[in-house]
Amino acid sequence: MNEKTQVGIIGAGPSGLLLSHLLHLKGIDSVILEARSRKYVEERVRAGVLEQGTVDLLCDTGLGDRLRREGLVHHGIELRFDGRGHRIALSDITGGRSIWIYGQREVVKDLIDARLEAQGAIHFEVDGVIPSGIDSDSPALNYQKDGREYELNCDFIAGCDGFHGVSRESIPAGVLRTYHHVYPFGWLGILAAVAPSTEELIYAYHERGFALHSLRSPEISRLYLQVEPDEDINNWPDDRIWEELSIRMATDDGWSLKTGPIIEKGITPMRSFVVEPMQHGRLFLAGDAAHIVPATGAKGLNLAVHDVHKLAEAFIAWYREGSNELLEQYSTNCLDRVWRVQDFSSFMSLMLHRYSDDDGFRGRLQRAQLEYICSSKAASRSLAENYVGLPHI
Ligand code: FAD
Ligand code: DHB
Repeated sequence: MNEKTQVGIIGAGPSGLLLSHLLHLKGIDSVILEARSRKYVEERVRAGVLEQGTVDLLCDTGLGDRLRREGLVHHGIELRFDGRGHRIALSDITGGRSIWIYGQREVVKDLIDARLEAQGAIHFEVDGVIPSGIDSDSPALNYQKDGREYELNCDFIAGCDGFHGVSRESIPAGVLRTYHHVYPFGWLGILAAVAPSTEELIYAYHERGFALHSLRSPEISRLYLQVEPDEDINNWPDDRIWEELSIRMATDDGWSLKTGPIIEKGITPMRSFVVEPMQHGRLFLAGDAAHIVPATGAKGLNLAVHDVHKLAEAFIAWYREGSNELLEQYSTNCLDRVWRVQDFSSFMSLMLHRYSDDDGFRGRLQRAQLEYICSSKAASRSLAENYVGLPHI
């Protein structure tokens, strides 16, 4: 069976869904092919911090209703070490910019609702997606659904299928340069049905390892612990997780961590990954398909949003004005921000995690850096402007 659209999108994560939405607003047709079910995609627990620029884009494009109602605006974060907390007043030192807590789950649900309400085509649970003809003017996506074969003909393909997707692999060998760094630690993340023990995010540096207290709502907390990258989740019964979190986040003034039922837990490796360029022929990569950042900077989702913002602008210029210029600049325009964010995420990761092979030297440098950030206006401002996100230009 043959279908036709303007932009064929692989993946219904934040990148693919937002791209489809932005194109729709300008009258450009797209079809999304997603390997998983709608339920699976909507329930995947991932990121939670939205930059101001991400929130502005979502609100400006009609996706702000629930976000404005349920999202939590944060004007600061805490860096905690040596038993003391130090507030970084994000908004005060960035001219009023802030971050929002609104789970990736919620962003994805809002996007799916908006696409389906506008009769947008999202085909869930498709198998064997294969891009072809990306060097020609008429690429296609072949796939199977319910045992039947389909071919989707399009003008362009957007590879929004995450780190493990097929689109990057379909670019001929030798075209892409890959940068890959694997960090010697992972994160054990939990979602817990307990009121947060803090109003603002806490990034804690401790000799037993990094810990992070985040949240989702007044009733739901999200917390992370540094663990070995190949750690087995079965080694972490709930009691051990709470005990370790309490130790790593303890303060001299008796702050205490509220505990409660853990409703989700998982381990994520930490890596930095970039491919250059983010495009070949008529195939454009966006989001995790093109790059991964270590989670410490809370940037993965925000970077994906920036990519698709640029990609949508480029497609719109092509369809409206017949201009190739933005499409040709797409990769360069994205990669500047990708590397800025790689640097920031790597800086946060190196500063806050314990290294098992540290002979003491790295630890002393980390403390010196933390002290500097918490005592120097210039240093804290640098962290803050990156954390709230540089403007989309
Ligand atoms: P994805 O969200 O990965 O979406 C890609 C979609 O493509 C998926 O729905 C997938 O099912 C689909 N797909 C894949 N292959 C195919 C195929 N062959 N055919 C059809 N569909 C396909 N960021 C943070 O900022 N903070 C965090 O705490 C955080 N935690 C994370 C935890 C995990 C386990 C992971 C994997 C990522 C995490 N991230 C986090 C990063 C953030 O979630 C991503 O940057 C964001 O999801 C990127 O969106 P995306 O749409 O580009 O990719
Ligand atoms: C969250 C995730 C992050 O990676 C981070 O740096 C801060 C918060 C979160 O899931 O809430």
